Amino acid sequence: MKSKITPSVAGPLFKRIGQSVRRGSNRAGTSGDPGKYLPKTMLFHFRPRRVPEEAVRFTHTWGLGGMAFVLIMLLFGTGLLLKLVYKPFPDMAYDSILMIQHEIRFGLWVRNVHHWSANILVIILFLHMQRVFFTGGFHHPRQFNWVIGMVLFLLILASNFTGYLLPWDQLAYWAITISTGMLDYVPFLGGWLQAVIRGGTEIGPASLLLFFAVHTAVLPAGICMVGLFHFWRVRKAGGVVVPLVPDEEEAERRRTPVFPDLLLRELVVALVVVAFVLIFSALINAPLDMKANPGLSPNPAKAPWFFIGLQELLLHVHPVFSVLVIPVLLSGGLLLVPYINYASNRGGIWFYSENGRRMGIYAVAAAVLFTAAGILGDAFFFDFTTALPMLPPVVGSGLLPVIIFTGAAAVFLMALKRRFSADSNEAVQSLYIFLMVMYVVLTITCLWFRGTDMALAWPWGK
Ligand code: HEM
Repeated sequence: MKSKITPSVAGPLFKRIGQSVRRGSNRAGTSGDPGKYLPKTMLFHFRPRRVPEEAVRFTHTWGLGGMAFVLIMLLFGTGLLLKLVYKPFPDMAYDSILMIQHEIRFGLWVRNVHHWSANILVIILFLHMQRVFFTGGFHHPRQFNWVIGMVLFLLILASNFTGYLLPWDQLAYWAITISTGMLDYVPFLGGWLQAVIRGGTEIGPASLLLFFAVHTAVLPAGICMVGLFHFWRVRKAGGVVVPLVPDEEEAERRRTPVFPDLLLRELVVALVVVAFVLIFSALINAPLDMKANPGLSPNPAKAPWFFIGLQELLLHVHPVFSVLVIPVLLSGGLLLVPYINYASNRGGIWFYSENGRRMGIYAVAAAVLFTAAGILGDAFFFDFTTALPMLPPVVGSGLLPVIIFTGAAAVFLMALKRRFSADSNEAVQSLYIFLMVMYVVLTITCLWFRGTDMALAWPWGK
């Protein structure tokens, strides 16, 4: 028998789903008319029927993965609308953005939603990654999902980067010129890689077309595929990581139905995110500078904010280290996080232990102090680039400062480990915190404390 699901039956239907879940039934839609239970059967392909109470608690995950999903949906929706009007050619791109903003009804709002969703997504993903790390969500059986997550993060960064150029204003043109220019410093492959990314030697018509195609076709397809894989792996691992309960009966008692307990919470988070982005975008416009002028570089010219930490590093350390060695080592280290031999696999507990929490506070303080001291010391007291002319630059302003800084950080972290008699989980966590905070300090410095000629300046005095 064919059945229709109308609004009038949706209420009782969902009530029945909730009830059957509460009773702990394990089979979906097997009694009575199967068609009537279609939403239920579909739902339970994506979700288990019951999840641990801990997984439902908002402060366990802060809903960050779900927020990322919602933002991606907003981006796809608004991106499709923008694509109807935008023209990816240097003589038309900027004007088509002006047209979207001034001549199309709600065009400005749609552009704002797209712009702010993309930027907020990077922050939300960074926080999601921290949530996963600090609740130990990368241990077995979730190791590979950490790697998939990093690939997703990379795809999202690439989307932001390629989208950055499309308005073809001064901001876009010079930010992309600066960041692709950093590749000049990569030995052997740098020049070739730069030409591939730019679609030629300079940022020009070919770059714009290439960035447009990658931004609107290649990356969205990649994000959909890798994203589905990510969700499937979460489901396969039995949902989000929670503390182990040794007794199976107790674990079963502490489970709660996905509908309504989890799904309603997720719905609330999704609605709050959408409302926030829509209101924020109605109040604050996405930036748009003058039309791109390849002959007039702004001063200072800065990379997009999510890469700006690297630009700050470039001011202090030889390019071979700041653009190649350090980023490659750090990304490799991040990929390997789940595959380190840890003292134990105690996932689901924030910061692993009380010891881990206290060590973390010391690591944050030390990273802020070390990085600020390095930046100020280099600016005002000891400039490695000029102070040691007898050494080749790659040694004098590269290897040497890196060894000094890493040595000082290593001594501090070893003293911390000894002081707290830390195990390997706590030690790795402190190192991770130290490096993450360092990158955040570099980013903030370059974003807000660099003025004309990239000299240090107060944000209000630039
Ligand atoms: C487009 C990007 C991403 C989306 C949409 C996404 C979405 C999600 C969602 C919905 C979950 C379930 C729990 C939660 O809400 O936290 C999750 C879990 C997870 N994510 Fe992501 N994620 C993304 C990127 C990342 C990144 C950058 C990483 C880390 C490098 C990562 C690693 C993980 C891992 C390991 C889990 C399982 C953790 C656990 O079981 O507690 N994800 N993700």
